[in-house]
Amino acid sequence: MPNGYEVRDFVLQVKNVSLQLGSNQILRDLSFEIKDIQRAGSTTGQIVGLLGPSGIGKTQLFRILAGLNKPDTGEVLIGNPGKPVQRGMVGVVAQHYPLFEHRTVWSNLMVAGARNGKTEGDSSRRATELLERFGLLAWKDFYPAQLSGGQRQRVAIAQQIMCSEQFLLMDEPFSGLDCVALDSVQELISEVTHANELNTTIVVSHDIAAVCEIADHVLLLGREPDEAGKQIPGAKVMASYDLCEMGLAWRKGIASEPEFHRLLDEIRQRFRLL
Ligand SMILES: Nc1ncnc2c1ncn2[C@@H]1O[C@H](COP(=O)(O)OP(=O)(O)OP(=O)(O)O)[C@@H](O)[C@H]1O
Ligand SMILES: [Mg+2]
Repeated sequence: MPNGYEVRDFVLQVKNVSLQLGSNQILRDLSFEIKDIQRAGSTTGQIVGLLGPSGIGKTQLFRILAGLNKPDTGEVLIGNPGKPVQRGMVGVVAQHYPLFEHRTVWSNLMVAGARNGKTEGDSSRRATELLERFGLLAWKDFYPAQLSGGQRQRVAIAQQIMCSEQFLLMDEPFSGLDCVALDSVQELISEVTHANELNTTIVVSHDIAAVCEIADHVLLLGREPDEAGKQIPGAKVMASYDLCEMGLAWRKGIASEPEFHRLLDEIRQRFRLL
């Protein structure tokens, strides 16, 4: 049990996923798994960062993990025993934050709560809590078109937290946020994930520091070089960092520790070769 952690059952298995779009090989035989991490004396969900350079295939993989698109080959299994993923099994915060444009912020959150089987009272309490947390209570009667990009993003994140059960997938949740909003989104992701032992959040991003600060596991997507050093088309998992095992899983102040900076430097260097 390294650093007081114990690894239990699978929460997600991605097996040999390949995807071709037109003549482009996007993902190639890509596999990874996420297991339930348990820490004595505290509830620990899993936060997994999927990092990779722009255009590598993160959003395409994200859509497959969410059950929104099917891969050409391979499968994604959720839970233990693993069930093939289907649309609706996981909460999704997409890269462009779709909201119901004809509904107010408040109504967007209430619809999400109702979809998750929450009573009106529960939905209303949770929505108030989330809007307060994100500094958006004064905007509750606004329509999405009346929000700034960052406000819209926080509503989209709040909306998914309202309706997701255990699995939450986020595509670039940190883009376009100022440092205060970034802290608040990071804290919220940690809080929501660690509220239940089996909760799992996958954050897809190219923001190495923001992801590593909250993740307990980081996977790098990239292309493998052939014998001549030429990149083979199609992304795979090229490196995997177990931050729990490295003693670098999230805790207050982690971002200012030298070991943490060494990890970021190493990932940045590898990134250039992906
Ligand atoms: N409909 C499509 N047909 C063909 N190729 C596509 C299609 N949609 C996306 N692609 C290609 O798939 C590759 C991966 O795109 P994807 O959006 O997954 O990248 P990403 O890693 O999420 O990038 P970013 O960090 O910029 O969001 C890109 O090269 C893109 O051109
Ligand atoms: Mg993307």
